[in-house]
Amino acid sequence: MPEFIPVIEKLEIRHQILKIAETISKDYHGRELVLIGVLKGAFIFLADLSRALKRVEVKIDFIQASSYGADTISSENIVLKKDIDIDIRGKDVLVVEDIVDTGLTLAYLVDHLQGFGPRSIKVCAMIDKRERRKTTIGVDYACTTVEKGFLVGYGLDYAEDYRNLPEIYHMIL
Ligand code: IMP
Repeated sequence: MPEFIPVIEKLEIRHQILKIAETISKDYHGRELVLIGVLKGAFIFLADLSRALKRVEVKIDFIQASSYGADTISSENIVLKKDIDIDIRGKDVLVVEDIVDTGLTLAYLVDHLQGFGPRSIKVCAMIDKRERRKTTIGVDYACTTVEKGFLVGYGLDYAEDYRNLPEIYHMIL
């Protein structure tokens, strides 16, 4: 049976989202912003973040990538599973991720989205996990930074389990 150590509790998640939403609302004040959630993990974060934004005209879309060949992780092992539907040409885009680990998925997705000619692309992550970063991609807005560990809950899964936990836990197998 795995062990679950609480890392971020419900109220703290709420507090961090309100704080980051305030910053994003200021940065995009009165403008239109396309939020692109990275499936599947970002669905809960996106739902909460989007509802906390103020005086920003929001559109929402989703994208999904998957990686294969886990022992030789590189951006070449990443494939697009679901593309966006909204036309983002000339638009301000915020990619919303659950957790950035190596950063390879995000680098791949940002590069793909740049191809549509948006006006700007920034990245927002619930958790910025630093230890295994393999790219120079920057996280513009992060709720929390952790160094390492495998986290579950609040959208984050282990083999599709635990996404619905309202808090975030460090899972030790
Ligand atoms: P990256 O390409 O290494 O940055 O991986 C990003 C993706 O890996 C995230 O969107 C998650 O789906 C998954 N991932 C990375 N770390 C964790 C974790 O600690 N818990 C659950 N999923 C994770």
